[in-house]
Amino acid sequence: MNNPLYLALDFPDAKHTNEFLAEHELTNIPVKIGMQLFYREGPKLVEKLKNEGYSIFLDLKLHDIPNTVKEAMKNLAGLGVELVNVHAAGGKRMMEAAREGLEAGTSSGQQRPYLIGVTQLTSTDENMLHDELGIQWGLNETIVHYAKLSHSAGADGVVCSVHEVPVIKEACGTSFLTVTPGIRFQNDSADDQKRVATPELARELGSDAIVMGRSITKAQNPKYAYEQAVKEWNHE
Ligand code: C5P
Repeated sequence: MNNPLYLALDFPDAKHTNEFLAEHELTNIPVKIGMQLFYREGPKLVEKLKNEGYSIFLDLKLHDIPNTVKEAMKNLAGLGVELVNVHAAGGKRMMEAAREGLEAGTSSGQQRPYLIGVTQLTSTDENMLHDELGIQWGLNETIVHYAKLSHSAGADGVVCSVHEVPVIKEACGTSFLTVTPGIRFQNDSADDQKRVATPELARELGSDAIVMGRSITKAQNPKYAYEQAVKEWNHE
């Protein structure tokens, strides 16, 4: 993986997405398609963007019984996306089944999508973990546990906040990928994200890929914001 910065395309539909990308001349870049857009536009938009040269993180965070996840992953592998993910809370067998599905659905000569486990959403804090989810461990402990579980199930990496990258690398090895959302410029609002960091800190702490949405899409000049983020991320 070549340290991509995935732009989160959190738009209501293909029309808004295509207009945004065209207006701000954001061509051939890594993008993330999440539930909002995928549930509206389906695989067609993924295929269109892929054909135009975008590389794609399909962020659908699957969480179901192993067999269902395996069959779903077979279908997603056929789309030729770069990254897909599952909730690590679905358990080891579910993640193993996800990988089996990806392997079965990837045609020969094609690159299998990376399988990434979601540890804890970056909108979760320790109070939520205890009071709402009933998990009595600390946030870091829980995240490292989920990272190790993902690793043992054959996932290629995890989604986590930048602050957790060093402990995850220590627990699972440096080649285990860390994909980090919750990225903000120094002076931005955190919105609903609880554990945020700048692109520069993400690089310093060893993230392999970052995801940025609103700091770019809601900026006054998204093209400029995108270029700034890439510069910070690449330490240029
Ligand atoms: O706008 P913002 O930069 O907060 O967008 C972050 C993106 O990353 C959103 O699309 C969100 O769904 C996604 N994401 C996240 N936390 C995770 C996994 C994905 O924020 N753990």
